[in-house]
Amino acid sequence: MARTALITGASRGIGLELAKLLAADGSNLVLVARSAQALEALAEELRGAHGVEVRVETADLADPAAPGELAAALGELEIDVLINNAGFGSTGPFWELPVEGEVGQVQVNVTALTALTRLFLPGMVARKRGRVLNIASTAGFQPGPYMSTYYATKAYVLSFSEGLAHELKGTGVTVTAHCPGATATGFGAVAGNDKNKLFTKMTPASASEVAAHAYAAMNAGKTVSIHGLMNWFGARTVPFTPRAVVLYLTSVLNRP
Ligand SMILES: NC(=O)c1ccc[n+]([C@@H]2O[C@H](COP(=O)([O-])OP(=O)(O)OC[C@H]3O[C@@H](n4cnc5c(N)ncnc54)[C@H](OP(=O)(O)O)[C@@H]3O)[C@@H](O)[C@H]2O)c1
Repeated sequence: MARTALITGASRGIGLELAKLLAADGSNLVLVARSAQALEALAEELRGAHGVEVRVETADLADPAAPGELAAALGELEIDVLINNAGFGSTGPFWELPVEGEVGQVQVNVTALTALTRLFLPGMVARKRGRVLNIASTAGFQPGPYMSTYYATKAYVLSFSEGLAHELKGTGVTVTAHCPGATATGFGAVAGNDKNKLFTKMTPASASEVAAHAYAAMNAGKTVSIHGLMNWFGARTVPFTPRAVVLYLTSVLNRP
């Protein structure tokens, strides 16, 4: 029987590429984001190319009511794969950034992800099968001056996913936190860091290669997966590096 996957942030970037991979594998899809037109265009393309069922649910996940409304709209539809991918960042001295964006990041990157996982997990556990893929970031491994809120949200995603994966052992349901490094998507323009060293001194990965890596990690049931050798090295050496050095290096990468 075909799986049904719900993907947040499917209108562009990594989420769009994940939608393509799942559709190519015969999964039916629920595509979620704010951009209705982009979602409808993608849905049309995937139905035509792969003959799968694709449903579009327009939602602003910065609205605290959105996860509950989404679950209610889907009713009895069984979600076998939940991909919490929607997310955004902001760059600058925290006290100068608009409060809506800072709180919105916590809402989208953390609260909506938590709510959707809580809403769709019971069905997966009852059916003894399911996959949750949370798109975290290499940002989740350390604090990030000038992107302090964003880094903190991704630390939550990482910690939450690891804890939950342990709870779910033996249930047939897995949780994967996938951690991309800099990736060429709309993220940099939204976060305002596409001209910073993080993006200019490093070659960003493509959204399609990151999505393929995340998809393979999810299907393998890995708990934490880091895209790219340099990203892996950077993330995994954080605990052995003096905190002041970590903070200095991250601030250099992020400074506007
Ligand atoms: N690109 C990177 O360098 C990078 C690195 C590490 C991790 N990540 C993570 O990867 C994930 C995907 O980002 P991306 O790089 O593909 O960026 P992107 O191209 O900007 O895509 C972000 C997606 O999230 C959706 N989204 C944003 N705010 C939303 C809201 N309030 N409600 C519903 N959907 C919302 C956007 O759709 P609408 O605008 O249509 O709502 C879009 O589909 C994010 O969690 C990001 O933190 C990115």
